[in-house]
Amino acid sequence: MSELIESKAISTDLRRLDGLAKVRGTAPYAFDQEVENPAYLYPVQATIARGKVSRIDTGDAEALEGVIAVITHLNAPKLAQTDDAEYTVLQGPEVGFRGQFVGAVIADSFETARHAAGLVAVEYEADEHDALLRSDHPGLYAPEEVNGGFDTDTAEGDVEAALAEAAVVIDHVYTTPAEHNNPMEPHATVAVWEGGALTLYDSTQGVHPVRKTIAPIFGLEPENVRVIAPHVGGGFGSKGLPHAHVILAALAAQCSNGRPVKFALTRQQMFSLAGYRTPTIQHVRLGATEDGRLTAICQDVVEPTSRIKEFAEQTGVPARMMYASPNRKTTHRLAKLDIPVPSWMRGPGECPGMFGPEVAMDELAEACGLDPIELRVRNEPQIDPDSGKPFSSRHLLECLAKGAERFGWDRRNARPGSREEDGWLVGLGVASSTYPFSRVPENTARIRFNVDGNYAVQIGAADLGTGTWTTLTQIAADALDCPIERIRLEIGDTSLPVASVAGGSSGTASWGGAIIAAAAAFRNQHGDKPEAGAQAQAQGMKDPDTERYAMHSFGAQFAEARVHADTGEVRVSRMLGVFSAGRIINPRTARSQFIGGMTMGIGMALHEDGVMDARFGKVMNHDLAEYHIPANADIEDVDAIWLEETDHRAGPLGARGIGEIGIVGAAAAIANATYNATGIRVRELPLTPDKFLS
Ligand code: MOS
Repeated sequence: MSELIESKAISTDLRRLDGLAKVRGTAPYAFDQEVENPAYLYPVQATIARGKVSRIDTGDAEALEGVIAVITHLNAPKLAQTDDAEYTVLQGPEVGFRGQFVGAVIADSFETARHAAGLVAVEYEADEHDALLRSDHPGLYAPEEVNGGFDTDTAEGDVEAALAEAAVVIDHVYTTPAEHNNPMEPHATVAVWEGGALTLYDSTQGVHPVRKTIAPIFGLEPENVRVIAPHVGGGFGSKGLPHAHVILAALAAQCSNGRPVKFALTRQQMFSLAGYRTPTIQHVRLGATEDGRLTAICQDVVEPTSRIKEFAEQTGVPARMMYASPNRKTTHRLAKLDIPVPSWMRGPGECPGMFGPEVAMDELAEACGLDPIELRVRNEPQIDPDSGKPFSSRHLLECLAKGAERFGWDRRNARPGSREEDGWLVGLGVASSTYPFSRVPENTARIRFNVDGNYAVQIGAADLGTGTWTTLTQIAADALDCPIERIRLEIGDTSLPVASVAGGSSGTASWGGAIIAAAAAFRNQHGDKPEAGAQAQAQGMKDPDTERYAMHSFGAQFAEARVHADTGEVRVSRMLGVFSAGRIINPRTARSQFIGGMTMGIGMALHEDGVMDARFGKVMNHDLAEYHIPANADIEDVDAIWLEETDHRAGPLGARGIGEIGIVGAAAAIANATYNATGIRVRELPLTPDKFLS
């Protein structure tokens, strides 16, 4: 166990320290950064799904006034490293997916660049492509591992025998569609070359990870790449690593007569270039005794990856640890398709992976004549079924019990479809939620005592809109035992000490751990009365408990759904999430994270559906007019609460992550509520009206 830091500033609901700058418009986002005499980039994107560029005519574009350069694979500077096809931009004529960059125009203005890009004439030699995901795809293969380094397949006991003998069996296929990250701020990069050094103002969840990825691609020492990102307008994982646009901006800035290049993706371009959540086909089988004790849990997942770069969403991973059962099996099979490269999206793995099993649990509860909460009580494991380790803290049942009471679970229909109000069928649903905790030790913080009596606290962390500016200031104040007014936090720049990505719900605990270590080093070296200029630096410590315990956050998602009896329209009239995530650093920003995740879960349940037209390999609904996300009118009463808890094994903050768990289980809870409302079981997201009109 680590020694816990005492709460003084921590656990107070401090308002966002960057809030005023943001609402006044003075907080600089990537594209806003002022650089000398910038040029603007507009890309040319492939209009075939697979093949190669056979001819490209840039003459008309180049002739346009204001155009500085048109770059294609024929004249683009060569990259030093080309092992990752997503990042191998304009190095050859090959096209790996529709929307891939085949050229770019750099011009004096965005408008000129866009106009000129339309004048670039491209001819292709198209190869036959395959963009259709099917559960019987002939090319299905088992990847070496799935994302996160998890095993592709796991098996314990004999699920087939257990299913054959089980008194109750649930056996269905559940599907989730492609979902596209749509942060408010589009992906944007401003690239500046000075001598042999590259500066990127980038909209990213991690400046150091971007540097680490980009430097070898341009054959640079990491010290010669500086990445700056003080403010980021959301990412949801899509900014967790750079995508091709970052490389294109940096390449273009080598061809712009020394001018910095500004490049922001349009909303439509984001649908093929910013990553997205893979669709999944999940065959879930549960076997149980008559009284609802699981004897078999099996989840077989089929999902696509792009042909040019493997991305193996770890969809089957949460089913490995969620419930107790002597026989368990999970598998992942991938189909290589000619589609845009998938990437991370809030709760990768857990988020889609909990949909099938949590709806199946609802079906099992009904088959056993049990309340869905009681079913979960009966299958609560004593230790992590997957690793065999004890949980550092597992309070799923408390979350369910607390939520049931507060939500009015006793009003759930005993018989589905039995409550109608003004033409709306009303029902309640529940699902469990989980997300693993990880604290990345490779984080360093530096503290300097300034002449004005304030502490500079420096770490190359990121605030993607989640509240890092605020929470790290709170942590630093407690670590240095001073008021928050004396902390001058510096983040979002690779000139600051190395920090891990704002991803995997690991940021606050990882960076906070380094700040606590640096503060301890500072006080050791300089005592309570430091001299101006005194400084200390330290790395966050790895805790031996990380090896000894399984560490996960847990939650219970409750939803009330209203399905219109005539039109099939679905509304989520109430939602409550009850979470167990260790100590909460700032209740205000934490609540935002939870209800933000749940809101995104409503989008997943009701709206979001990336439609791939396999004939063209094209995401058809590639804008916010046709790719629906929840708007204000869709969100009625969403509430989140949490257990008062400190996880003594989760490092010196006693906190596990909160960024992603809010979305996990949300869609299943809503699907289960629509079943309770209507008696119609929909196993295919999203829950569109047509599915309730059969
Ligand atoms: Mo999150 S999808 O780990 O950035």
